[in-house]
Amino acid sequence: MSAVAWPLPAVLAHRCGGALAPENTLAGLSVAAALGCRGVEFDVMLSADGVPVVIHDETVDRTTDGRGCVSALSLAELRRLDAGAWRGPAFAGERLPTLVETLERCASLGLAVNLEIKPATGHDVDTGRVVVETLLQGFADALTGLVLSSFSESSLAAARAVCPDFQYGLLFGELPEDWGTRAGALQVDAIHADTRYLSAATVAQLRDAGYRVAAYTENDPVLATRLRRWGVDSVITDRPDVVLDSVIMTA
Ligand code: G3P
Ligand code: MG
Repeated sequence: MSAVAWPLPAVLAHRCGGALAPENTLAGLSVAAALGCRGVEFDVMLSADGVPVVIHDETVDRTTDGRGCVSALSLAELRRLDAGAWRGPAFAGERLPTLVETLERCASLGLAVNLEIKPATGHDVDTGRVVVETLLQGFADALTGLVLSSFSESSLAAARAVCPDFQYGLLFGELPEDWGTRAGALQVDAIHADTRYLSAATVAQLRDAGYRVAAYTENDPVLATRLRRWGVDSVITDRPDVVLDSVIMTA
């Protein structure tokens, strides 16, 4: 863990634009920025030809008009898919973005980034490594803030081995008993925890141990404000439209 400043704002739109746009798309970034968000979370996986792309599921079935595993499709095949039409005609033609174009758009919109490394099964190490190698090509420097997170401890270790200078967060669902040992071994700066399992006491325990805390996914403005009062550094939400105002007004 580190004593450096936390680089993310209090509210992050989940999967680029939360529930207000097709998830993990450039359209989502525009929606988030237009609402006044200063940061977003998104998920990164490798295509079959090793290009980091922004998508949540291991398959394209739910969020595009195609079928198949992301790790079995080339970038060219992924780029032919429509990643927006499933959320309505206004988003038809939206493409599945690469990590590079997503980082470039975040930089131009002034959005800080919580990049979740989301490896397809069996690709933990190469995904962690490639994500950081990409960030080091000048893209991280252009961002207003950056934290890398993952449920995959192998991905985080691989990422940190390439660049120990970024800030890292270990993602958990329910906090396991050995969370401190695992976070300590990885030398992460933050714990990213499922809001359903957080309490004032748990947040205090994490903060007292020296970790920053991000909480996902809180869509209720009152509960989001309560998380902030407990000491959560960043609340990740699908409803930045209502959570943002509430958190700012009570700051
Ligand atoms: O990074 C927080 C959150 O996105 C983790 O869950 O499944 O939405 O990626 P998931
Ligand atoms: Mg995520």
